[in-house]
Amino acid sequence: MVVLWALPLALAAGLAAACPPNIVLVFADDLGYGDLGSYGHPSSATPNLDQLAAAGLRFTDFYVPVSLCTPSRAALLTGRLPVRSGLYPGVLEPGSQGGLPLEEVTLAEVLAARGYLTGMAGKWHLGVGPEGAFLPTHQGFHRFLGIPYSHDQGPCQNLTCFPPATPCDGICDQGLVPVPLLANLSVEVQPPWLPGLEARYVAFARDLMTDAQRQGRPFFLYYASHHTHYPQFSGQSSAGRSGRGPFGDSLMELDAAVGALMAALQDLGLLRQTLVIFTADNGPETMRMSHGGSSGLLRCGKGTTFEGGVREPALAFWPGHISPGVTHELASSLDLLPTLAALAGAPLPNVTLDGVDLSSLLLGIGKSPRQTMVFYSAYPDEIRGVFAVRKGKYKAHFFTQGSAHSDTTADPACHASSLLTAHEPPLLFDLSEDPGENYDLLRSGAEVSPEALEALKHLQLLKAQFDAGVNFGPSQVALGEDPALQMCCKPGCSPWPACCHCPETPP
Ligand SMILES: *[C@@H]1O[C@H](CO)[C@@H](O)[C@H](O)[C@H]1NC(C)=O
Ligand SMILES: *[C@@H]1O[C@H](CO)[C@@H](O)[C@H](O)[C@H]1NC(C)=O
Ligand SMILES: *[C@@H]1O[C@H](CO)[C@@H](O)[C@H](O)[C@H]1NC(C)=O
Repeated sequence: MVVLWALPLALAAGLAAACPPNIVLVFADDLGYGDLGSYGHPSSATPNLDQLAAAGLRFTDFYVPVSLCTPSRAALLTGRLPVRSGLYPGVLEPGSQGGLPLEEVTLAEVLAARGYLTGMAGKWHLGVGPEGAFLPTHQGFHRFLGIPYSHDQGPCQNLTCFPPATPCDGICDQGLVPVPLLANLSVEVQPPWLPGLEARYVAFARDLMTDAQRQGRPFFLYYASHHTHYPQFSGQSSAGRSGRGPFGDSLMELDAAVGALMAALQDLGLLRQTLVIFTADNGPETMRMSHGGSSGLLRCGKGTTFEGGVREPALAFWPGHISPGVTHELASSLDLLPTLAALAGAPLPNVTLDGVDLSSLLLGIGKSPRQTMVFYSAYPDEIRGVFAVRKGKYKAHFFTQGSAHSDTTADPACHASSLLTAHEPPLLFDLSEDPGENYDLLRSGAEVSPEALEALKHLQLLKAQFDAGVNFGPSQVALGEDPALQMCCKPGCSPWPACCHCPETPP
């Protein structure tokens, strides 16, 4: 639990970046608003992330537009709502025919065109496709080391345990190929021993940084950790050590990886030239009970449009450029593409973006231009449109639906048994007085303030205008699956899929 990297001594400096900064974007998986020490968790072991929070900008009102892996990742990398790019309904499967359409412009493509060396480690989940057509190396990343989807989308017996050959949690999805670890487009190991992954990814990240420095160019590292998605795993440095059980150990390993990335930046003398951003794809998967995360004081979790599903921890750290502090401004994962493009001096793609440029907010010279945030169901349709809209401190829910991912919490509204419900008038919450969405202003029995009534009308109008202006792209998920598209280290082998087995020997 030690922080092995230190802040550069002289923090004062001009605001403008003399040259495009290196960018490290760490994206956690199924991590809740309440899971980090810096966001109030009493027993998490997250010293490195807490140091980033203390010495960087910590967001209290940072959102993803959909609380599910595939659409959230599409939003992050394109700055566009996933209904536009067709990443709905639900998530992509290992044999899905579709993926993030190649004509979508990713953050990696924007930065690569500006001269960045781009690399991705970890979980992709934006499609494999025929001949790996949708994999990261076809989407702007010069290098990729990782698993092309979630690590439970394949049988996971014996993959998560540390030490090896001790009993493991979970069996995951049967009847699929074991999860592959890909190096660019080829299967490196199938399946990898999961507690060994973090060390591989950190080594990959270090190589990327070193090579970029040697080539005299900036780098973009997208570090999409498998932590803290089910099933939990962790290696030697964290297994059994966090004090918060398997979930806490997994989070501790993620935190240690962040520490290792920071130490690598420090060793290379790059801390002051590197913007580090941390956030996560969606809220906690509470159906895993104590092996899932926590949304803290927020309502529900993954799979819902309540705050616990869509509000995420988010940190931005860049010594000498971003002042330490806390911001309550509205911000979203959608905003990272335009923000990072601005900081890198890269032109924006000629497409409809849903993100806005937050660079003035980051640099402490202005406010967030984001005034509203819309939230879609993971199973959206054009008739219902957005489920919820936030503007200022008010949020209206026009539709709600529970999710199995949010089962087992005390609140039945979160559970799969809470079916899709239209609310007319919408549920209306004041998120500054009631971030937990407990007290519907229109149904509490108390008199509704003129301000709240005004906000209600405005939110209704915003929804109508927004829905009328959005074109859903053709669904990539609806293209269906072809089992033969699952990546196999021994193509054509039998008995399929179990024969796709090219394991490594655990150390
Ligand atoms: C898991 O390990 C046990 C004990 O080593 C072994 O008997 C079993 O076949 C393994 N299961 C799989 C799916 O690899
Ligand atoms: C991927 O391809 C790049 C460019 O050819 C290469 O530098 C890298 O070593 C390859 N493998 C990985 C895991 O990045
Ligand atoms: C941007 O795209 C639109 C529509 O696709 C096109 O008409 C326009 O010429 C493009 N602008 C530039 C600068 O490429």
